[in-house]
Amino acid sequence: MFRNMIKENDPDNTEQTTHFGFRTVDKDSKQGLVRNVFDSVAKKYDVMNDVMSGGLHRLWKDALIRTLRPEAGMRLLDVAGGTGDIAFRFLEAANKRGGDDSAADFKAAKVTVCDINAQMLDVGRDRAIDRGILKNIDWVCGNAESLAFPGSSFEAYTIAFGIRNVTNIDKALAEAYRILKPGGRFLCLEFSKLDMPFLDKIYEAYSFHLLPRFGEMITGDRDSYQYLVESIRQFPPQEKFKVMIEEAGFKRVTYRNMTGGIVALHSGWKI
Ligand SMILES: C[S@@+](CC[C@H](N)C(=O)[O-])C[C@H]1O[C@@H](n2cnc3c(N)ncnc32)[C@H](O)[C@@H]1O
Repeated sequence: MFRNMIKENDPDNTEQTTHFGFRTVDKDSKQGLVRNVFDSVAKKYDVMNDVMSGGLHRLWKDALIRTLRPEAGMRLLDVAGGTGDIAFRFLEAANKRGGDDSAADFKAAKVTVCDINAQMLDVGRDRAIDRGILKNIDWVCGNAESLAFPGSSFEAYTIAFGIRNVTNIDKALAEAYRILKPGGRFLCLEFSKLDMPFLDKIYEAYSFHLLPRFGEMITGDRDSYQYLVESIRQFPPQEKFKVMIEEAGFKRVTYRNMTGGIVALHSGWKI
């Protein structure tokens, strides 16, 4: 599916090229390739998440929300928010902790889901309607690298399993810093590097052999799931990504491994 858009060129020419999974592509074409992946999987994305992770993605996302501690009045920008998993959890948690919403000065928590892929957002909107979530949520089509929001306008920025798909991660981090208010929090959930050597081989075999097969069986698209697995391997390990977040200006940057490092939750503050 992607073959004709991929340029097998000089991998050392890093100014012009980047990776798309294990392939080297022109930077200009990566976004379109990523869009194709999520266009192709959007309708089955949520089912596939449960199948691929054995439901673990729910626990990882719950952990992100617990770390964020949503509350009344908080405004969250969830970038690469896809079909709304983080946004729904955020509103639910904020409502639980929100106190008395009949008070005159009550301010509801609000979330903006921003994603480059309109089809993922459409699925998210339908899910919101099914759940009766009709207010305090906006759906915006946009690129993490150039956000259409004013500076210092959100208390929190989250990105879950999205940043490894972004062409210029440094630009996305700079944008995260820009749109956050002073005191605002950045949280990123992403597949990372295993810290349990014995798990490594099993995970490797599962990722490269079984997962693309599941993808083919459920969505009819093996290539997209092959890309997803490869993109995980290309993403910088925990410590390196921590430095990238610091370079964007964030302070008190930390991370926490989950499930043996299959996933890491990075946190930073705009101070
Ligand atoms: C693996 S999905 C994650 C969706 C959701 N956050 C979740 O955890 O279920 C990755 C999402 O990143 C989006 N995406 C990829 N590149 C992007 C970019 N440059 N800007 C915004 N969203 C992007 C894709 O369209 C896709 O919806």
